[in-house]
Amino acid sequence: MKGQVLVFLGIAFLSIAFSRLETRSPTPYTLPDVGEIGDLNIPSDNPMTVEGVRLGQLLFYETLLSADGSYSCGSCHKQEFSFSDGLPRAVGYRGDTLERNTMTLVNLAWQSEFFWDGRVKSLEALIEIPVTDPREMGQDTARLVELLQDHPHYPRYFSEVFGSEKVTFKRTSQALSQFLRSIVSEGIKLPDSVLNIPPDHIEESYFVESQFLEETHRALYFRLADMCGSCHSTQVYGGTQKMFNNVNSPELPMKVPSLVNITLSGPYMHDGRLKTIEDVVEHYEKHIATLSYLNRKGNEAPKIAKLSPYDKENLPVFLKLFIDSNLMYNPAYGNPFERGRTLWPESVGSRHTLNGD
Ligand code: HEC
Ligand code: HEC
Repeated sequence: MKGQVLVFLGIAFLSIAFSRLETRSPTPYTLPDVGEIGDLNIPSDNPMTVEGVRLGQLLFYETLLSADGSYSCGSCHKQEFSFSDGLPRAVGYRGDTLERNTMTLVNLAWQSEFFWDGRVKSLEALIEIPVTDPREMGQDTARLVELLQDHPHYPRYFSEVFGSEKVTFKRTSQALSQFLRSIVSEGIKLPDSVLNIPPDHIEESYFVESQFLEETHRALYFRLADMCGSCHSTQVYGGTQKMFNNVNSPELPMKVPSLVNITLSGPYMHDGRLKTIEDVVEHYEKHIATLSYLNRKGNEAPKIAKLSPYDKENLPVFLKLFIDSNLMYNPAYGNPFERGRTLWPESVGSRHTLNGD
């Protein structure tokens, strides 16, 4: 009896060992530490892996995702525009103009409400919307699955992530979500001229107070933290917060966008109605007092409730400092099919399979 149990255990052990050998398990993907910007939101059935993020990157730039093979997620979410597109409102694969401005994609791993109005609660569930919307990509999910399954390379990539070559739309959405979660801004490094250190004998808090009304970039930084930071608060008031506010858009509360790379992602607001940063400054010049008061939960009033002429003039230049060039240039977020980028094996092409050459 004892011997039988041992033999049984031995066989069980060997078969597990062999199955491990056959399907190497994917390597866990570690997100960088970005400090306190909220709770991570990664579903337990879709942990991030190096292979999953890589497949997601391919799919993000894959034009098979649109009905006529002309459009990928990256056609609207362009890396050089901080994953927006430079247009007031998004334009779909057939040239239709949509109702909303293309959102930037950053630090999504720490968020749980998506789209301008937050109506979608998970990235995995979101993917189907742009893919199937007749004006965005107009693709049929079953047809997409077939195209990916018949592709010379994708089945291998799916197998590396999911342990089998079977392509499903769920797996496609999972890999895409993993890639989206990997797009991270670790924050902005402001130049020393802004963050100059107070003299030794002066307390930081006193220094802030004493600087508050000065006409310097550093003082502007403090004033913005006070005026804008109550909403655009985290990561040098950059990371997107899990909060919505309807002061800018009385008809519907909108997600507070990240100010990381803000000068790249105009036109601004959910409907793209403000063309430039100067227009945004103009807008806030009229509304900032109401905005900052309304957003305070306690009784504490903002110290500053108005943009001074100095602030108005310097804000557009100052916001240009909010650049995270890693987001713009890191090839891990870029289009792997673009010529000159050698991140992927040459053989993993995309467009040629559609055009049949
Ligand atoms: C036609 C242009 C277009 C295409 C193609 C497109 N998107 Fe978007 N994306 C948008 C627009 C516009 C919004 C805002 C939609 C809204 O609020 O209703 C958005 C919002 C998002 C958001 C929400 C971000 C946030 O902070 O809440 C994610 C995530 C996203 N898109 C991912 C994708 C993925 C993945 C694909 C490919 C499967 C894709 N998009 C294809 C235009 C596009
Ligand atoms: C009461 C909260 C609140 C305050 C205070 C606030 N904002 Fe906003 N901000 C928002 C919301 C909400 C949106 C999106 C509104 C929309 O799309 O209609 C937004 C949008 C923006 C945008 C456009 C982003 C994009 O991607 O389109 C910029 C730029 C901006 N704010 C800068 C600032 C600056 C600079 C200040 C301080 C002078 C400030 N905000 C103060 C809530 C706030």
